Amino acid sequence: MAAGAFVKDKVVLVTGAGGGIGRDFALALAREGARVVVNDIGATVDGKGQDLTRAQGVVDEIRAGGGVAIANGDSVADWEAANRMVAQAVDAFGQIDCVINNAGILRDRFFHNMNIEEWRAVIDVHLNGAFYVSRAAAPYFKAQQSGAYIHMVSTTGLIGNLGQANYAAAKLGIVALSKSIAMDMARFNVRSNCISPFAWSRMIGSIPTETPEQQARVQRLQKMETSKIAPLAVFLASDAAAGVSGQIFAVRANEIFLMSQIRPVRAMHTAEGWTPQSVAQRVLPAFRSSFYELDRSQDVFDWDPV
Ligand code: NAI
Repeated sequence: MAAGAFVKDKVVLVTGAGGGIGRDFALALAREGARVVVNDIGATVDGKGQDLTRAQGVVDEIRAGGGVAIANGDSVADWEAANRMVAQAVDAFGQIDCVINNAGILRDRFFHNMNIEEWRAVIDVHLNGAFYVSRAAAPYFKAQQSGAYIHMVSTTGLIGNLGQANYAAAKLGIVALSKSIAMDMARFNVRSNCISPFAWSRMIGSIPTETPEQQARVQRLQKMETSKIAPLAVFLASDAAAGVSGQIFAVRANEIFLMSQIRPVRAMHTAEGWTPQSVAQRVLPAFRSSFYELDRSQDVFDWDPV
């Protein structure tokens, strides 16, 4: 592991870092001098079970390369546990400088068949988990007048996808959470940003490969290595990202994107006030050409990864 110093001595908690994108974050941060808390409950992709060896395995890899890391096997979906993982970082290293909310699960189902348990499980890990871990770190960030949050979001929420209403709602909720944190904590020099990754991990490994079109898509996806997301995350955790807050980035192999945020695209007004009839007669024809299609992520990102 070639040593760098981009985030030297910073203490970074990465959730869900026992595999996939989070593992590459932990390895890259440690290579750049950070002290890393590798959290992972070690669950299956649908959030079942617990396996502490996943987080410990990444810690062992970091230590073998001369880096500094400790393991934590708590669930982000539990407020007390989220406080414990932040406390563990502070107990071990005396501070906490960055939280990366990366832990995640999927419970895909078409909306009309989705049950309450599938909805709650995904909201709990993604949206509630991001709140719990971020909130647990907030008093430390406030006291030291610095800190950085990085939240993993998804084009499923930013753009759209089929069969992922729970995940889309959770991820777009995290975008709003990040913006709110960025605004509320700017006075304490705390930054909060989102990364929407595209990466071939076990999380998207279940994409069906029945038709030739699906097989071609999966072949393209496999080019998107999980390690390609890490440079942006390490940058956002570093002091070089001073002033960068409230933004949404996306990374796909060698491409980095700045994503738009929702703003009005068309406006009409009337001195008399609107009636349902005048909305139908005047507003609809004017607005229709600006309506968004029911785009999925792949309809917008419709070129091959570079
Ligand atoms: P992954 O399944 O490889 O990693 C997620 C990790 O989170 C797993 O190691 C799992 O054990 C852990 N985890 C699950 N529930 C947890 C809990 N309650 N507490 C602590 N850890 C828990 O998935 P991947 O692809 O690395 O995803 C990382 C993040 O990136 C997720 O937030 C995911 O939603 C997001 N993402 C990934 C995309 C991709 O293309 N792979 C696309 C868009 C978003």
